[in-house]
Amino acid sequence: MRRIQTIAELRETVQAKRRAGIEIGLVPTMGALHDGHASLIRRAAAECGYVVVSIFVNPTQFGPGEDFERYPRKADADAALAEACGADAVFLPSVDDMYPGEPRTTVHVEQVTARLCGASRPGHFDGVATVVAKLLNLVQPDRAYFGLKDAQQVAVVRQMTLDLNLPVRIVPCETVREPDGLALSSRNVYLSAAERRQATILWEALEAAQRQLEQAPQITAAELEALLRGTIGRAPLAELEYAEVLRFPELEPPVGALDSAAAESDLIVALAVRFGGTRLIDNRVFQRK
Ligand code: PAJ
Repeated sequence: MRRIQTIAELRETVQAKRRAGIEIGLVPTMGALHDGHASLIRRAAAECGYVVVSIFVNPTQFGPGEDFERYPRKADADAALAEACGADAVFLPSVDDMYPGEPRTTVHVEQVTARLCGASRPGHFDGVATVVAKLLNLVQPDRAYFGLKDAQQVAVVRQMTLDLNLPVRIVPCETVREPDGLALSSRNVYLSAAERRQATILWEALEAAQRQLEQAPQITAAELEALLRGTIGRAPLAELEYAEVLRFPELEPPVGALDSAAAESDLIVALAVRFGGTRLIDNRVFQRK
């Protein structure tokens, strides 16, 4: 496996593969790789002839006071894991490589960024969309792999590729979880033992939402959101940031009863919960057709 540090080497490497007719897959990450990232890399390796994993803690998607400085960084372990999962190259640029001067161009996606993390982390999705656009331009992959754990990110990236005619297929991948239901996240290492025990409340709330939708699907989004708030409230260390039920992938509020015959799109139940200084998100998508 190749460790690529510079943009020039990255372009040269992928150009040679492309000229040879090899399909290229990209898995963008911020490192601190875990089994969730691993599942994306393995899938890319199964579907593409050449897989690039980018590892870049992107400063522009962190807000003031967020965890950019303390975000876990472990390039050597990440490279080893990426290789074991079938990556052909890891791209590890520096901040100066990616942002050599003060950038004057930002990719801003409207509407799908209005709620959820877009509302609670202003500017976050501008940073994500811009860095993903840059990575897609650098690698020019046939397919790029994203986890549904960050479902709004998937919706934003998909919308951007549609609006800007980017020639790439966005492949959404299922969320990988701990045995007790907690979604794997690079931020789980911040949790104290007590917080870690209570962090399963996100999973419990999603399970309760699923039971409710199965048993009484005629309820409204507001009623289901109240159920989610009630469940999260059972964990004393949990501080709810949002619990929302929206249409997916539009990320707009559903009208009327959730089982409405006029329902055209799927539903997402999305949660953001803080445990001390640690912010966890999770979601579940329900098909309505
Ligand atoms: P990061 O948080 O490192 O995540 C990289 C990819 O792994 C994302 O597509 C994310 O959804 C996916 N992922 C994370 N946890 C997962 C899990 N438990 N199961 C399945 N997939 C999971 O997301 C980012 O980085 C950045 O915003 C990035 C897209 C790299 C842009 O900087």
